[in-house]
Amino acid sequence: MVKRILMSVFTVIFVSIIGGLSFLYFRKPAQAPVSAARVCVTPERIARGKYLFEHVADCGRCHSGRDCGRVGGPPVPGREGCGNIVSTFLHGMRGLVVASNITPDVEIGIGSWSDGEKIRAIRDGVDKDGNALPPMMPYTDYRLMSDMDVESVVAYMDSLAPIRHASGRLSGDIEHYAGASPLRQCFRSFQ
Ligand code: HEC
Repeated sequence: MVKRILMSVFTVIFVSIIGGLSFLYFRKPAQAPVSAARVCVTPERIARGKYLFEHVADCGRCHSGRDCGRVGGPPVPGREGCGNIVSTFLHGMRGLVVASNITPDVEIGIGSWSDGEKIRAIRDGVDKDGNALPPMMPYTDYRLMSDMDVESVVAYMDSLAPIRHASGRLSGDIEHYAGASPLRQCFRSFQ
């Protein structure tokens, strides 16, 4: 009798642990619904967005083409938002770390994303399909960006020329940066 009770208790504990771990592993990140915001693109907004993109939020540091043969790796004119292999110039990163193409190109860039989806990616770190963006995309720094500022950044991105430049996606053992679930983040540490 005692043996059967013990077996039942162990089974319940075992199933709870496996169930809990599976839940943490597979669940999608908490995420706000995509807003229906449609950004009004005006010259003033584009100018403000360009300033934020290139200087304050420094999106171009990762997402624009850069001339790493020159001091500070200045952005290459005409390559704004075209995507970049960040692991070639940020040292200490394993695998292939890519800041993707965020120009309006429909296939390679984010031309098919709604403005609300772009805003959610910037402030919440969630992509079009509801997956978490890797934490190298510093959305936690952008979380408190005002509506006006994030919409200006989107207006500027919308004004960019679509560039068909495939920089690829994150790959290799860099997958552990992907932050797809809290459990993966627990088990795999930055090294
Ligand atoms: C330190 C580098 C870095 C900075 C700075 C940065 N990003 Fe990113 N961004 C990334 C990385 C890495 C990804 C993920 C790429 C992937 O999943 O393959 C990403 C993903 C994105 C995505 C989703 C693209 C997609 O196809 O999934 C958008 C949109 C984006 N960034 C916009 C911005 C904007 C706008 C800014 C500035 C406000 C910015 N990023 C600043 C590194 C950066």
